[in-house]
Order: sequence, then C-alpha cells, then structure tokens
Amino acid sequence: MRIAVAGATGNIGARTVAFLEREGHAVVRISRSLGVDLITGQGLDAALEGVDAVVDAISSPPMSPAETLNYFGTTTRNLLAAEERGGVRHHVLLSIVGIHRIEGGTAHYSGKREQERLIEEGRVPWTIVPATQFHDFAALAASWTERDGVATIAPLLVQPIAPDDIAHVLAEIATGEPQGRYVDVAGPEPQDLVDMARRTNDILGRKVTLIPTWSGPFDESMAGNAMLPGENARIAPTTFDQWLAAVAR
Ligand SMILES: NC(=O)c1ccc[n+]([C@@H]2O[C@H](COP(=O)([O-])OP(=O)(O)OC[C@H]3O[C@@H](n4cnc5c(N)ncnc54)[C@H](OP(=O)(O)O)[C@@H]3O)[C@@H](O)[C@H]2O)c1
Repeated sequence: MRIAVAGATGNIGARTVAFLEREGHAVVRISRSLGVDLITGQGLDAALEGVDAVVDAISSPPMSPAETLNYFGTTTRNLLAAEERGGVRHHVLLSIVGIHRIEGGTAHYSGKREQERLIEEGRVPWTIVPATQFHDFAALAASWTERDGVATIAPLLVQPIAPDDIAHVLAEIATGEPQGRYVDVAGPEPQDLVDMARRTNDILGRKVTLIPTWSGPFDESMAGNAMLPGENARIAPTTFDQWLAAVAR
C-alpha cells in the first residue's frame, strides 16, 4: 500500500513510518520541515497522489485553547479536503483517551476534539485511535513549567503506553479497513504522572524538584479515573519500567 504519515518527523509519526516501511509499504512523509504544510496546504495535493491511507500524527505548537482549536481545525480541514480530491480511502487519527469524559483539560484537548468532530462529519472513511499518555509524556509535561530547577506537575492517574507500541498499532490500523472509533489503546499498568516524571528525570540525570499541583495546564476535571482507558481497551505490552530501563541504556 501507499500510506502518507502526517507528522512523519515527530515522536510517533517517525516510528509509524519505520514500522510501515519494515512491512514493505511505500510511505509518503508529511511535515513542514519536509516541505508539506497542513496549515497552508503547500505541497499537500502532490504528496497525496496515489495514496491509499493517511495517518494524522501531527501536533500543534503550545498556544491558547482557541488558537489550538484553530490550528487542528485548519490542518484537519485541509488534509481531509486534499484526501477527498486525491481519492484517499482511509483517514487514521491519533487521538487521546478520555478527552470526551472531561469538560476542559488542556488547550491541546480542545484541538483534538475539533479534529475528531471534523473527521466524524467528513466524507473520508476513518478510524480514530484514542491513546493514553506516552511513557515519555510525564517528563515532557514537567519541562513545560520548569524554572531554575523547579517544576509543577499534576498528580494525574494515567495508564501510559510506549511510543513504539502505539506507533505499531497505528501502522497496523492504517493497512486495514476503516473502523470508526477504535477502542482505547493503553499500556499495561496505571501510573502516577509525578512519579513517572521523577523517575524519568532521575534516569536522565536531570536535577528537577517536582511540586505536585492541579494549578497548571491540567485541571481537576482530569483527576480520578478520567484519563484511564475504558472497558475493552487494547493493552500494549511494554511497561513503564521496561521503557525506563531502555532509556537508561
Ligand atoms: N504525548 C502524549 O502523551 C500523547 C498521548 C496520546 C495522543 N497524543 C497525540 O499524538 C500526536 C503526536 O504527538 P507527538 O508527540 O508524536 O508529536 P511531535 O513529536 O510534536 O511531532 C509533531 C509532528 O507534526 C508535524 N507538524 C506540526 N505542524 C504541522 C503542519 N502544520 N503541517 C505538517 N506537519 C506538521 C511536525 O513536523 P514539522 O515541525 O516539521 O512540521 C512533527 O513531525 C499529537 O496530536 C497528540 O495529541 C499524544
């Protein structure tokens, strides 16, 4: 098959490209640094020529909720319109578990909900893949607020997944038929985001004092079981400890 990956230079996109190529598929890489911009549409029609399926694994720069909604809205509209013109038969979105269970959440979630809405209303057959937080997410989230060796982070209950595991699932889904809303995809064990960030920073030799708080980018609507996978979730194999051990090597 010929499959385009939007966000091909990103954390999950690059891994998805690698899995697809390993399986012998022809992969078209989409990202601004590779000359294709989903905001302006530059290079998009040419990139989608002869493409059977598209995986959308782009992200947005950090912005306000309204700006993020606009970023994901514009990129998704442009991508879906180009897919229709090009006869693409399957649009696969990497989304986030739990974003419909909560009122607010981060600015990013407003944009992800908008992506899902446009895809569901659109004419290109689709699969939306809700994933839990990635194993590397905790340290990243702490780094957003880090000043002079001190960072705040919410004591969020998550069931994180290894980046390679979710990329593997996306590659598998992109080569199959559209499935609508896919089951939640998660790692094998619940974890606390503060503990994950602390352990990741320790392994990487980063000296950061972490202050648990709900006064930050995550609000209390995300507390409790809100971000955990639903029933019948697909559970990927790699534990946080196994991922951490690999990071340490
Ligand atoms: N982090 C988590 O724990 C988590 C959990 C579940 C789901 N997700 C979802 O996973 C997705 C991917 O996350 P990630 O961490 O892999 O992202 P990432 O590493 O930040 O990569 C983002 C990619 O998007 C590309 N991109 C951004 N704007 C673009 C545009 N206008 N046109 C074309 N390409 C564009 C970037 O390349 P250029 O800069 O070259 O354009 C890059 O390849 C996100 O949408 C996020 O919501 C994340």
